[in-house]
Amino acid sequence: MAFVLPELPYAKDAFGDILSAETFDYHHGKHHNAYVTQANDQLAGTDLADASLLTVIKAAKDAGNKKLFNAAAQIWNHTFYWHCLSPVKQEPTGKLAEMITRDFGSTADLLAKLKAESVGHFASGWGWLVLEGDTLKVTSFHDADTPVAYEGVKPLLTLDVWEHAYYVDYRNARPNYLDALLNNAINWEFVSQNLDGAGASRADQG
Ligand SMILES: [Fe+2]
Repeated sequence: MAFVLPELPYAKDAFGDILSAETFDYHHGKHHNAYVTQANDQLAGTDLADASLLTVIKAAKDAGNKKLFNAAAQIWNHTFYWHCLSPVKQEPTGKLAEMITRDFGSTADLLAKLKAESVGHFASGWGWLVLEGDTLKVTSFHDADTPVAYEGVKPLLTLDVWEHAYYVDYRNARPNYLDALLNNAINWEFVSQNLDGAGASRADQG
């Protein structure tokens, strides 16, 4: 079964100036869609044609098939990223808020750390909040690389820092894009859900 471009969990104009409809037209409609096409083209007629997205990501990594890994991992990364965004401003609550205070001091400290990691990430990649054991960690991954390709790293929240994520609305100003998202547009409810360790499955398909 071929992979599909998942629908956005909100209207493409839901974020106003924070992320424009034009950004979603390109980022979701063109970039994300291109990864779906690239993965399907490579998988057609192979043993992995009916495999799940997570299975393809792991198999491509094990086989050293960088081209397939990049396409499949980018389908998953982008799907997860859309779910990490909320057009309605939220705050971390409950167990997540307690863990943030325990591991970072405060939500403001976590946001500062996520921003610093994501701004400082050289070239294309993804900023991440992940769960390792019972501990929250801020990290980043290069290009298409993804926490779901590693044992014991559970995805909670991601920030796309490829230039295509912010160039339409922020030109080259990655810090401004990150400020806008981190302060106004994170789906902390989704991040909380992912504390169950099943975040990987929430962007899987096939
Ligand atoms: Fe992207």
